Amino acid sequence: MGRLHPTPPLLFHDVVPDNARGAIAATSLAAPPADLATVRGDGRWPTESAEQAVAWDEGVITYVGPADGLTGVEPEWFEGCTIAPGFVDCHTHLPFAGWRADEFEARLSGVSYRELHGEGGIYRSARMLAEASDDEVLAFCRSIVQEMADHGTTTLELKTGYGLSVEAELRQARLARRLAQEAPQTCSVTLLACHAVPEGVERADWVRVACDELIPAAAKEGLVDAADVYVEDIAFTVDDLDEIARCASDVGLPLRCHADQLGPSGAAEAAVALAARSADHLNHVSATGIAALGAAPATVAVLLPTSTLFLGSSPPDVRGLLDAGAAVAIASDFNPGTSPVVSMPEVIATACSLYGLGPLEALAAATVNAASALGLADRGTLAPGRPADLVVLDGDAFRMVPYRPGHNPVVRTFVDGERVGGR
Ligand code: NIG
Ligand code: FE
Repeated sequence: MGRLHPTPPLLFHDVVPDNARGAIAATSLAAPPADLATVRGDGRWPTESAEQAVAWDEGVITYVGPADGLTGVEPEWFEGCTIAPGFVDCHTHLPFAGWRADEFEARLSGVSYRELHGEGGIYRSARMLAEASDDEVLAFCRSIVQEMADHGTTTLELKTGYGLSVEAELRQARLARRLAQEAPQTCSVTLLACHAVPEGVERADWVRVACDELIPAAAKEGLVDAADVYVEDIAFTVDDLDEIARCASDVGLPLRCHADQLGPSGAAEAAVALAARSADHLNHVSATGIAALGAAPATVAVLLPTSTLFLGSSPPDVRGLLDAGAAVAIASDFNPGTSPVVSMPEVIATACSLYGLGPLEALAAATVNAASALGLADRGTLAPGRPADLVVLDGDAFRMVPYRPGHNPVVRTFVDGERVGGR
């Protein structure tokens, strides 16, 4: 009978879809304070409280507090579990197409990452990307972003850098935007305009092309949210970073920087001087770089512990960074060469065991501080008015996450209040 009405009866206008409203409660809740953009130094690190609930409506949190203080709705109860903000993976190299497991095996028998750079490495991933159709790239990446959702990632970065020509970089950025639209998570796209010097081109000439053509074109088409440079002896220099920073700032793009990964270059302190949003990797950051990051109002120190483990590199002075007051984030660096790791719980476990972070320091690094590296101030914490991005983890305290490397603790993942992953 209702089908005869040209528009639904008014009564139904108030009904919201099931997935926009929800309430959960668990044995424990761990979250960083909601009033800080980053947690650093002797600041207020995340705390954990017992028997807590979170409720949301229209994808926005309406309640965080004691389970017995929640009224008007019966929460789904997760006994023996912990609620936390969804993980923010603020450094990945998606989209790409295809693995490089043979290079991994070669490295195990003594070939270095630097030696593979050419026939293999970034250049090889660029060839694989060029040979794959758009549909093939998206099909490959779709299953990966779902795997990330099932491991609790609610926000992630996507990056170019496997294009190595203006057209191929723009194609990769367009693919990143399409992936961002399809992905269940919130995504931010970075133009890694300077990742490897294209074959047959002088380094300085490529930097010019990136400044004159690539960055303006990507910005004009609205394809990217930030620009990045790989500063390394096999890639680009601190002067190149300077030049890219100027062009990026001309078109309103914030700067990020792969800094001091394979060797010391002074990139971390240069990134701070340029007010970059982040300096990433930092395995060989100097004392000057540590002091600069410690005093930096805006530059997050993004650490990538699974990349360190996978490459067998030496870890940075993590305690030095924390003691200096740096805003430390952690991320997967997900890529086929130095970190084929999708799992933020694994990144957290490695950050604790290899880098010496405490579990709740790692939680801040994987949520609020990582969101700051992406300029997404509303993500990474739990508070009324914030997006309902959260995870339910299967241990009764957050320390169970780093305590059990290799185990996926994620029972549920919600993005903007919608269930997008878990089991
Ligand atoms: O962050 N260091 C440069 N870029 C990546 C690796 C890229 C690759 O090997 O494909 C990284 O580790
Ligand atoms: Fe990287």
